[in-house]
Amino acid sequence: MSTTKSALLVTVLTLLIGFAPPATAEKPPLAPTPPMGWNSWNRFGCDIDENLIRQTADAMVTSGMTAAGYEYVNIDDCWMAPTRDAAGRLAPDPVRFPNGIAALADYVHAKGLKLGLYSSAGTHTCQGLPASLDHEVTDARTFAEWGVDLLKYDNCHNEGRPALERYTAMADALEATGRPIVYSICEWGANDPWEWAARVGGHYWRTTGDIADNWGSVMSILDQQVGLEAFSGPNAWNDPDMLEVGNGGMTTEEYRAHLSLWSLLNAPLIAGNDLRAMDPTTRALLTDPDVIAVNQDWAGVQGHRLADDGDLEVWAKPTSDGGAAVVLFNRGLTGARVSTTAGALGLPDSPAYTMRDLWANTIVVTDGPVRASVPPHGARMYVVAPGGGSGEPAVSAEVVTDRYADPGQTLTATVRVSNDGPVPARGVRVLLDAPPGWLVSPAGGATVPAVGPGGESTVDFTVTVPAGEPTGTHALSAEINYRAGQLVRRLTGYGAVIIATTPSGSPWLSALPPVSTQVGWGQLGVDRSVDGNPLTIGGLTYARGVAPHAESELRYHLGGACTRFTSAAGIDDEVGDRGSSTFTVRGDGVTLAESEVVTGADGPVALDVDVTGVTELVLLTDDGGDGIDYDHTQWADAALTCQN
Ligand code: GLA
Repeated sequence: MSTTKSALLVTVLTLLIGFAPPATAEKPPLAPTPPMGWNSWNRFGCDIDENLIRQTADAMVTSGMTAAGYEYVNIDDCWMAPTRDAAGRLAPDPVRFPNGIAALADYVHAKGLKLGLYSSAGTHTCQGLPASLDHEVTDARTFAEWGVDLLKYDNCHNEGRPALERYTAMADALEATGRPIVYSICEWGANDPWEWAARVGGHYWRTTGDIADNWGSVMSILDQQVGLEAFSGPNAWNDPDMLEVGNGGMTTEEYRAHLSLWSLLNAPLIAGNDLRAMDPTTRALLTDPDVIAVNQDWAGVQGHRLADDGDLEVWAKPTSDGGAAVVLFNRGLTGARVSTTAGALGLPDSPAYTMRDLWANTIVVTDGPVRASVPPHGARMYVVAPGGGSGEPAVSAEVVTDRYADPGQTLTATVRVSNDGPVPARGVRVLLDAPPGWLVSPAGGATVPAVGPGGESTVDFTVTVPAGEPTGTHALSAEINYRAGQLVRRLTGYGAVIIATTPSGSPWLSALPPVSTQVGWGQLGVDRSVDGNPLTIGGLTYARGVAPHAESELRYHLGGACTRFTSAAGIDDEVGDRGSSTFTVRGDGVTLAESEVVTGADGPVALDVDVTGVTELVLLTDDGGDGIDYDHTQWADAALTCQN
């Protein structure tokens, strides 16, 4: 690109998004769009060898991943021998990689793919193997000689030396080799890398600590992306860490949400599963061409959170063809309709807009509202653009009920069907699906002759929960069939009711079944710490309490029956002085109490909170602003005062 053109681009970008992107003149433009590939760490950890890498390269091609755009095959930690060779160079582990890295690079290159390798800006890698601090020039040369195309450069054993110096030293060493090598900076967001990583030559940089294959981890990382959108752009991407899709710890809907959001964030799409044994669902998720196209479309800005209504969020970014990509996201326990509008997405005024559903591959027309019923922990993803004329109408539904019911209770479930399109939906048949044993009336559903353009119809159902129904979240979904012109369509309105008993007396919280628990790591400790020890804060021991690893969210049903919540909050002594967190108590979505950041060095914080009238109590612990490592939080002595 000529200097004039890039100066022009900088000006345009500055005008568009109000900041000057970091100067990247020296850095080879190897990542004009977010890099795509695979990395060994999330699925295999240290259990890697050259056969795995070869087989993965084979599978990348045969599975359709290569055709979808995945290119880099990245070997993470544990490829190196425990000591450097006689010449002071890093050497491959002789057992795992007997034929060496260069041979592996040849193999991968012969398939039209690229090879990535790993080291740390420290004396050792995170797994204790030799790493590159003060060996930058030698190691960069070695990597270049081997034919390496990407370096992931980690942060362990850094001796407390400044990140800027350490990461610049490797950037310079890589550049001096003359080989184009993508530089992936992995300092976990510890030193605000979005401020400097692009300038020193990084093509992308981690913004957080490590991802794990669970929903809490993905949500915690997602929240840490808010506000970083301005720092990302061609050749310089924010990296919310590698994908967990297909690793088994989450549901298909959760993986769909993870991928939808990572795609919208312009994240490098680095798969972390076993490509050799991918089920068709995983393959379809990872290779969806429309979702990948959003990820690869810069269009002036990374996706960002447009609206946040507690559990329901809207994330969006412009697309270069004048549309907007949008993720309607439900992070809650129960299905819900998530809504925005074409105007809120920044689209120009138009009589109609097309809504292309990227996962379902349908196109419908709306006159402005952009909404869909989204299952719990789920996402729907669209590209919305002006136009559409009199195409198929956008029809959506919601199921509205009380959030909680007791066993034996009778409640009303209202199904609302809305038509945002230009032509009627006719013969609208609405059925309510309830769990076995629940009574629904009218059992056979109801039919509405037509829901016209801009119209809405509701159908009320009476639902009786069986007396012996166990506590928990039960789906209560609507199935809606209708005709639009010649088309016969079916859609689902996702809803749910939570069956929970109301506490009485003065129970310990640890004696109540939580409605839901989300922890950042491991299992919730009940009257025990995260590691299974007696609960201890600042030398004091507690018999009762709940101990979630941050980031955590514990939800309890109070049913309006309690008046007081008390607890001694803190970080368990089992992590010494380490760990930090904020403790937040919410009632029905309102923050009732919030601590300062509490560290492992602090004693317990006494909480005494008025919860009068609260239906749902939510206890939150966060990462204290520095990642979740060692955040063994606990709500010691947690107790309620309730009626009767
Ligand atoms: C750190 C990184 C991970 C992974 C491991 C390997 O934790 O953040 O992505 O590379 O090291 O030990």
